[in-house]
Amino acid sequence: MNLSGKRVLVTGATSGIGQATALKLVEMGAEVWALGRNGEKLAELEQRGLGGGKALAFDMLEFDAYREFVGGLPKMDAILHSAGVVENSPLKYFSMEKYNRIVATNQSAPLLLTAELVRAAKINQGGSVVFLASITGTSIGMKGIAAYAASKAALLGIAKVLALELAPKLIRVNCVSPGMVNTELVANATYISEEAKKADMMKYPLGGRYAEPHEVAGVVAFLISDYSSFMTGQNLTVDGGYCIQ
Ligand SMILES: NC(=O)c1ccc[n+]([C@@H]2O[C@H](COP(=O)([O-])OP(=O)(O)OC[C@H]3O[C@@H](n4cnc5c(N)ncnc54)[C@H](OP(=O)(O)O)[C@@H]3O)[C@@H](O)[C@H]2O)c1
Repeated sequence: MNLSGKRVLVTGATSGIGQATALKLVEMGAEVWALGRNGEKLAELEQRGLGGGKALAFDMLEFDAYREFVGGLPKMDAILHSAGVVENSPLKYFSMEKYNRIVATNQSAPLLLTAELVRAAKINQGGSVVFLASITGTSIGMKGIAAYAASKAALLGIAKVLALELAPKLIRVNCVSPGMVNTELVANATYISEEAKKADMMKYPLGGRYAEPHEVAGVVAFLISDYSSFMTGQNLTVDGGYCIQ
């Protein structure tokens, strides 16, 4: 797959799936504009090379700063919304503050960023927007993470609506829903014990393991590429067969 000539904005590019995708896209010839908060990791990304793109520090929770930030960006051919957080919050300890923080990062931020990019005409005709959703919320439940599940399920609805709104501009909008992926998000998860993770992994039909970030990156690259030129409003599950059981 050759992505030369495509300029892609990647949020959450400093870790896990976002980072693996940013690097894969560069490998495939794309120019990547990588966003994150961690300055050291951003500098590392720029040093590795972003195909002529840049690594920029931006906190996705700074909603008031979006318009100015987007104004300073060049026109994009694709956006990957990968920035996301998960926090353990079983009903007993549920708080609106935690709920709002998770929804703000996972659901409101990608919607607002897309809106600002569209308003500023920063997505080229033929463009592709990809939201990283999850099987949690969309296909399965998991104890302790209601806010996360809600935010991820919402992305599927948002993608369907935006797909219709942006179709006249020939901009496509799709979701990728991974099962568990070996990233810091899962390594640091407090909603599942190490023992439960080992047992859970065994339930993944393809190899009894969690995915590696590059295995999700390939699917995102497909949705960004012209190979998926007639796909919009869809959700691709990347879970090694977990949800079909
Ligand atoms: N790993 C999984 O099993 C899994 C499964 C399904 C879906 N997903 C989804 O995939 C996406 C990526 O997850 P991951 O596993 O790659 O997670 P990760 O390794 O923890 O990376 C999360 C990324 O989000 C960024 N981020 C978080 N809050 C931010 C904020 N306020 N402003 C800017 N950047 C922010 C982080 O930036 P900093 O480095 O600056 O903190 C980091 O780059 C998430 O949306 C997640 O929900 C993951």
